[in-house]
Amino acid sequence: MTEESVDGASERIQSSTEASGSSIRYVQYKDENDLPIVMDLVDKELSEPYSIFTYRYFLHQWPHLCFISYDENKPFGTVVCKMDLHRERMRGYVAMLVVDKTYRGKRVGSELVKMAISEMIKGGCEEVVLEAEVVNTGALRLYQGLGFVRDKRLHRYYLNGVDAYRLKLLLPLSEAKAAETAAAEESQA
Ligand SMILES: CC(C)(COP(=O)(O)OP(=O)(O)OC[C@H]1O[C@@H](n2cnc3c(N)ncnc32)[C@H](O)[C@@H]1OP(=O)(O)O)[C@@H](O)C(=O)NCCC(=O)NCCS
Repeated sequence: MTEESVDGASERIQSSTEASGSSIRYVQYKDENDLPIVMDLVDKELSEPYSIFTYRYFLHQWPHLCFISYDENKPFGTVVCKMDLHRERMRGYVAMLVVDKTYRGKRVGSELVKMAISEMIKGGCEEVVLEAEVVNTGALRLYQGLGFVRDKRLHRYYLNGVDAYRLKLLLPLSEAKAAETAAAEESQA
């Protein structure tokens, strides 16, 4: 994925777009009132059962990395992520991504992920990782389209016994971050 495509996504945050004749809005997670919306969407679609503590873990700390897609006032897709330090570098992680069956194939899943990645870039992330079932053709195709590559295969990663691929996307360092790193290296020399 190019920086341009990520930045383009960020401009559409909380705005409406006309797609396939219907009005699709992408809205950043706001507060606990959005929690049941996210939980309903994810619980319906994902094979892994999550407790409310898991949702709160992500949504209380990184509300800006969660987006919900709406058709008019009907929520139909969401992405939940986090970002933290990993080996002294900021790393983003996509924890959950779902799009209701009737809305799939309209690039909504891709848009949701791009919006989250845009926020991760603003936060200084240098890479993004996630796991996907090796049999999840749709998710693997989506992430491949965004530039993710297969990093490793995780044996029986899921409760259902299915293997996972760890996928990784390397993000370009922003100019400011690159200058900051160069200055730090110079002062240490
Ligand atoms: C995976 C999921 C989020 C995709 O959402 P979506 O909005 O339909 O995805 P997009 O429209 O953005 O598709 C992006 C690309 O993936 C491809 N794709 C999506 N689903 C596909 C499928 N089931 N089979 C093959 N390709 C698929 C699209 O054709 C598109 O490819 P292209 O870039 O070559 O045109 C959705 O199918 C879903 O919610 N699945 C259940 C939950 C899940 O598996 N989440 C991911 C966990 S890692």
